[in-house]
Amino acid sequence: MEATTKPSAEQIERELAELLEKETFEPPAAFRETALIANDSVYDEAARDPQAWWATQAEALDWFETWDRVLDDSDAPFFKWFVGGKLNASHNCLDRHVEAGRGDKVAFHWRGEEGEERDVTYADLLRDVKRLANVLKDRGIEPGDVVGIYLPMIPEVAVAMLACARIGAPHNVVFGGFAPDAVKERMEFSEAKALITVDQARRKGKSADIKPAVDEFLDEVPSVETVIVVQNTGADVPMREGRDLFYDEAIESASEDCPAEPLDAEHPLYVLYSSGSTAKPKGILHTTGGYLTGVAWTQKYVFDLKPDEDVFWCSADVGWVTGHSYIVYGPLMNGVTSVMYEGAPDYPDKDIWWQLIERHGVTVFYTAPTAIRACMKWGVEYPQRHDLSSLRLLGTVGEPINPKAWLWYWKVIGGGRCPIVDTWWQTETGQIMISPLPGVTTAKPGSATLPLPGIDAAVLDEDGNETPADEQGLLALRRTWPGMLRTLFRDPDRYRETYFSKWDERTYFVGDAARRDADGYFWIVGRVDDVVNVSGHRLSTAEVESAIVSHPRVAEAAVIGQRDEDTGQAICAFVILEGDLEGSAELEREVREHVAQRIGKLARPKRIIWTADVPKTRSGKIMRRLLRDIAEGRELGDVTTLREPGVMKDLEGKFSEDER
Ligand code: WT7
Repeated sequence: MEATTKPSAEQIERELAELLEKETFEPPAAFRETALIANDSVYDEAARDPQAWWATQAEALDWFETWDRVLDDSDAPFFKWFVGGKLNASHNCLDRHVEAGRGDKVAFHWRGEEGEERDVTYADLLRDVKRLANVLKDRGIEPGDVVGIYLPMIPEVAVAMLACARIGAPHNVVFGGFAPDAVKERMEFSEAKALITVDQARRKGKSADIKPAVDEFLDEVPSVETVIVVQNTGADVPMREGRDLFYDEAIESASEDCPAEPLDAEHPLYVLYSSGSTAKPKGILHTTGGYLTGVAWTQKYVFDLKPDEDVFWCSADVGWVTGHSYIVYGPLMNGVTSVMYEGAPDYPDKDIWWQLIERHGVTVFYTAPTAIRACMKWGVEYPQRHDLSSLRLLGTVGEPINPKAWLWYWKVIGGGRCPIVDTWWQTETGQIMISPLPGVTTAKPGSATLPLPGIDAAVLDEDGNETPADEQGLLALRRTWPGMLRTLFRDPDRYRETYFSKWDERTYFVGDAARRDADGYFWIVGRVDDVVNVSGHRLSTAEVESAIVSHPRVAEAAVIGQRDEDTGQAICAFVILEGDLEGSAELEREVREHVAQRIGKLARPKRIIWTADVPKTRSGKIMRRLLRDIAEGRELGDVTTLREPGVMKDLEGKFSEDER
């Protein structure tokens, strides 16, 4: 690459400012030419008979026995898909490709934190999955028994998940960054019989003891009878005779003969605990046939994947649903090669992601808006160090993406060639629900655009009527889809109550506020529990944040409603400035004026607090709850999911006693 051809940061800033005026982005012609779906007839096809259409998509999987009925909705909201069908997830991810002679294909280009590289093929995965499945069986794990997985981003995490799937033991993956307390709780709630973990985990050049930390609570969780320990750093860790096994030793002596169990389409594939707005996490349960159908289809068509040409990379952690669906099950079912990266985006330096994209010729990259904003803050010099010309499609997930970040992603990372798919979905939906089809949909930065084929999304008012164009309401899904959660683990009442009590037992309550524009495009506003009421007007914290962040000097913002004598609630904004900028009274006026221009005077923050960081969950969601606690002088609530615990100390000093 020639350094002289690279635009400067100022040039880019100017171009982005111009692009902010542009409201629509059509799929680039070159992309459309090779797109798997290049015209919109698929929407009509699916709408004509959604069940038949999904059944056709399910045929892309390998079934041991076909289904008698596509959908049984007689006991709504407990829906059953592909009733009577039998299949196995690990067979669909592995055996199928190996049997077709593609065993030598790389499944994962793995990159360790310290630069280690391992290429793991489909045949490698299959061999280890069979052996680990036999180890689990030897330890008495039977279909239906829950197996906990608490591992970093190493290939063994995929082996562990698929070994469970092979024998019908639902896995319960806990994000490697969660504290042991969270693991304990999740093992207790799910009555896990076994736990697969590591000796130590690594983060930015340091290592942390995992096995010893797990040992501290295991005595209190008697259901866990087996602990399998992957030797990740090789540190000396205590092992308990009769309970604990080293992964390598155990699979070394295990048989490689382990046929995939033919499981009912509705057999539980996994439980994944998701933090809700209440204290107790929800055990979201996904089953096999429908989930795999929804994930396989969306993986292929939203990301336009051609297995022989593409290299896919989803930068999430397997501990989240994004990792379950789009690092493990989706890519492997489709037989593509992906990248798996153990480390942080800024270690050893802030260009590591772009280095990996260049190194492996990544063609499709999927990440979160919060990560994009961090990269913006670090500056264009990091992506500019690398050749990113292999990229042809970009994706985002997790929160609404503010147009400024969308445009930066489009321009700086995608070089203006790559469509962006802003994918809306949830742990509960299992699969992407609202998203562009990249060869078809005209994108509008900030909008997840339209429901995918077969999906019926709507914006409703409290009574279940559709809101007029541009009017905010509640996002709803009015028709069951194959990848939906089936229940909350051992808590069917909470399932019904949480998702199907707002309107009726067939209309799924999402928990997001949204509006549709005159073209039918969906604009997700944010969680309804993050709504602020200023003088009787409802405002979304996410919306105000997006407005603040669109100010050229602002890198990131978190907004809460603070109790206010005059207006009920007032907007209080925690603002992180770009680079080394210092907050000033003048900037404060500017930002307030900027928000007034974007949304209205009403949304102007009453209070702006300059800060270097805000509390976030490990998945990058701002924990407004903690900010509210601070602003109102309460004792901090649960902080176990916090990414950087130190941030709260800095913030506490920002409020004086009488302000609260
Ligand atoms: C909530 C679900 C799905 C994997 C990651 C998060 C928000 C997700 C988008 C998007 C606007 C989004 C919603 C949703 N969300 N994607 N593209 N645009 N908002 O999974 O932790 O279950 O969170 O994330 O508010 O309800 P999750």
